[in-house]
Amino acid sequence: MPNVLLLHGGAGSDNSYTEALNRYANSTSSKKSMDPLDFVVEAVRLMEDDPSFNAGTGSVKRIDGSIQMDAAVMANSQIGSVSAIERVKNPVLVAREVMLQTPHVMITGDGAVKLARALGFSDYDPTTERTETIWKKMVAFFNGRDVELPERYSQYYRYAKIFGFPQQKDTVGAVARVGGKFAAAVSTGGSSPMMRGRVGDSPLPGAGLYAGENGAVVATGIGEEIIRKMMCYDIYTKIGTEPLHEILKNKVEEFGEVLVGAIAVSKDEFASYSNSSMATGESTWP
Ligand code: GLY
Repeated sequence: MPNVLLLHGGAGSDNSYTEALNRYANSTSSKKSMDPLDFVVEAVRLMEDDPSFNAGTGSVKRIDGSIQMDAAVMANSQIGSVSAIERVKNPVLVAREVMLQTPHVMITGDGAVKLARALGFSDYDPTTERTETIWKKMVAFFNGRDVELPERYSQYYRYAKIFGFPQQKDTVGAVARVGGKFAAAVSTGGSSPMMRGRVGDSPLPGAGLYAGENGAVVATGIGEEIIRKMMCYDIYTKIGTEPLHEILKNKVEEFGEVLVGAIAVSKDEFASYSNSSMATGESTWP
């Protein structure tokens, strides 16, 4: 089977992003590496640097106005993950260093920021005009309400639906099969509106991503629901039982109206499925 790199711009991203994603996939796959991790990390880095997406530059703000981002990589039975990391340009690059340079799997909050600085990642503000506007609308809506009450996030999600927050784009992600090996990477600003300190599915292996010897899977959508269903590991365990597209479709349909999507690659297939618009890009090469 040819090598393949498949990426998505998040549940909620529409076809207007397809051209950019194909460009990112093609420029990434022109690299000489035979390590699938290099491909997924580079593809996600490019999406983090594109302010259209909710990852890296362009990440949405939390209710308190801060930006805390989550990212993870998985390959070769190894995992690197950062959650609630702030003021770095490329969370996915820090996640890869967690995997390659520390004895840990996941590092969070100020520890993740300290690690990033120690590794030479400089201070960077990922705020954009678009995300500032979205945040101001959120503040106006929540004004006078006690938003720090520890209610379930789905309450916030309902607020978001009922009061029409601007449609958000979710996590970006990439999966690759290169030389018969698999890797997955994800990065996100989270699912707004959300409290400071909230962690979504993206940095959690099994929930937001999974890669093993049979394939790689990444998820996008409302993190809390994805975590409850361990979405990516569940899809991974079904690889080979029916066509990959059917496996994704059946899983996504379990979520009903909750915004969710996934992409996956196996030994002989690759597929994507979402219950909303979800732009994808791909590249295959011998
Ligand atoms: N899927 C990203 C998040 O919920 O944080």
